[in-house]
Amino acid sequence: MPIAEIFGPDDFANAGRAPAPPVRAQASATAPLPLPALEWTSDVERATAHLYERVKTVIPPVEWVIMAPYVKAINELKEKRDAVILAHNYQTPEIFHCVADITGDSLQLSIEATKVKASTIIQCGVHFMAETSKILNPDKTVLIPDSRAGCSLASSLTAADVRLLRERFPGVPVVAYVNTSAEVKAEVDICCTSSNAVQVVESLNAPTVIFLPDQYLAKYVASKTKVKIIAWKGACEVHERFTGDELRAYREADPSVQIIAHPECPPDVLAAADFTGSTAHMIDWVRKKHPKRLVMITECSMAANVRAELPDVEMVQPCNLCPHMKRITLANILESLLNLREEVTVDPLIAQRARRSVTRMINLKN
Ligand code: 13P
Ligand code: SF4
Repeated sequence: MPIAEIFGPDDFANAGRAPAPPVRAQASATAPLPLPALEWTSDVERATAHLYERVKTVIPPVEWVIMAPYVKAINELKEKRDAVILAHNYQTPEIFHCVADITGDSLQLSIEATKVKASTIIQCGVHFMAETSKILNPDKTVLIPDSRAGCSLASSLTAADVRLLRERFPGVPVVAYVNTSAEVKAEVDICCTSSNAVQVVESLNAPTVIFLPDQYLAKYVASKTKVKIIAWKGACEVHERFTGDELRAYREADPSVQIIAHPECPPDVLAAADFTGSTAHMIDWVRKKHPKRLVMITECSMAANVRAELPDVEMVQPCNLCPHMKRITLANILESLLNLREEVTVDPLIAQRARRSVTRMINLKN
């Protein structure tokens, strides 16, 4: 069914609403280590040859000779720093396939963050993901290579907005997509990701649920459940740019092409797709179905990462890059490890309340 009601920042303008503050991280006082030599040498070639095998179909040799010295330096320094690298599916192939220890969608990264043994986590993704890792690992050092890596969804909603919605709908449970700040997570009943949004909403056994902040994911959930959904006017700046016309044009050009889309896309896009799922569910679908020609309606790097693994799947690649995900590079990962920056911190009282919402989601049985 369609979503019941939708609210946005303008609805609370008279209630003293302020926009979300910029995301924060702090530099470390640790003495910087000297930068290793970053040249293409026979030693670098030998140490990274097995990694180049994983990405050779998507990274040309002329680019690899620049990347490989960073890859070697990062992998060596990671051990010295007792650090583990968590990378989202939207990270570029040299990060995703060559330096990451754990990869996945938002749900997988949240779950894996609870099992990390190393003392330091380097989050290759965006700020809300690093905050989630910190919430789940309060005693570990969590670093993000560039703290400006935000998210249009996370910045669309504040903790005050959630409190105002609760005042307007007393007793109605609130679900927040993990693409939100720690302050928002602290105010809600439970979190969800695009992997489990329908399951989380139904687990509440309530006739009406406030679902924040992605209006398109809310519409997708509403189409899959009988629960009445009250939504927020947030959107992912990457996925909202796709259109149903664009998808129909791909199909007209090649009726045999398969099209899979992320649920952060508008409904007309999802209606034109063969499959809808989170980034991890999309990857699983490709591994299982092994289509000949495929369009992945999501962030560009994911198609490159899948193509590196399955080179015989021909990707028709409409490129919508996430400017926030792309702030993370080999150079700033190395710098992050060298100088232990930028450290992500969450107020302990906020973290305690946010942890309840995130762990309640993680503890839901499949
Ligand atoms: P998932 O990887 O959980 O599907 O999320 C997509 C996304 O846009 C994360 O920012
Ligand atoms: Fe946020 Fe969209 Fe970028 Fe994901 S892809 S981080 S939802 S802006």
